[in-house]
Amino acid sequence: MRPNLNRAETKGTSRTKAPRRKTVFQTSLTEQARFMRAWFDNPATTGAVSPSGRFLARSMAAHVDPQDEGLVVELGPGTGPVTQALIARGIAEDRLVLVESDSDFCRLLERRFPLAKIIQGDALDLTRTLGDKINGPIAAIVSSLPLLNLPDAQRLTLLGDAFKLMQGQGRFVQFTYGLTSPMPKHSKEDEAVGFSSQVSAPVWLNLPPARVWVYRPQLVAPCLERPKGQAKGGALIARMVREMRLRQARARASRIIGG
Ligand SMILES: C[S@@+](CC[C@H](N)C(=O)[O-])C[C@H]1O[C@@H](n2cnc3c(N)ncnc32)[C@H](O)[C@@H]1O
Repeated sequence: MRPNLNRAETKGTSRTKAPRRKTVFQTSLTEQARFMRAWFDNPATTGAVSPSGRFLARSMAAHVDPQDEGLVVELGPGTGPVTQALIARGIAEDRLVLVESDSDFCRLLERRFPLAKIIQGDALDLTRTLGDKINGPIAAIVSSLPLLNLPDAQRLTLLGDAFKLMQGQGRFVQFTYGLTSPMPKHSKEDEAVGFSSQVSAPVWLNLPPARVWVYRPQLVAPCLERPKGQAKGGALIARMVREMRLRQARARASRIIGG
């Protein structure tokens, strides 16, 4: 009796029907739709109506050196355009730690980046959110958090926490649609705070155009601890920087006096 052959077999091949794959265009439309839904639900937290374009994502990733040892922590990965650019830059997926507050985005990220560690939580409470979920040093923290909606002190606290987690090294990379630094350069007392910064040219091929800022700790150890009951953010960092400069000046003076 003739076996019941399907069309592929009758053509003399053993091909089975491949599962239908989404095209890049379909994928990006789905991501766009998810993003817009998140924005409708929570505009202040989502911070944009569409995911970052590839030029901006690439510009963010360019500031992370794949040779630097340690984990790369991404804050607010959303649907993952920056994550994808980090991987394309040569950062192994299993070095990535993605901190995202939106549960739908987390599920999507789990599917897209199965080797990355995905933590659903508040990136603004970074130390607690990472807790004991990571081990090993952090080489860089890359953030797409909508910082412009936050008070200055909260932004500086995030930066201070990030530097502390990176043990006074590494870099904090942040994009912004704003024209000025998303990290206030001066505290309310108009004191310099303990970081240096560098900004990219505008990425015009993004909607809206954006810039990438990179922050590095300038003076490490003293700006890291916030003793209980003391001032937060910029004022505290500024005071500690001032005290450290004073100590350094005294040490220099005593070396000169001592010959
Ligand atoms: C402007 S979107 C950027 C998304 C993506 N990185 C991109 O470039 O397209 C900001 C993202 O940060 C997330 N987010 C906002 N506040 C957060 C928080 N406190 N903790 C964790 N994720 C947060 C939002 O859910 C959203 O995915």
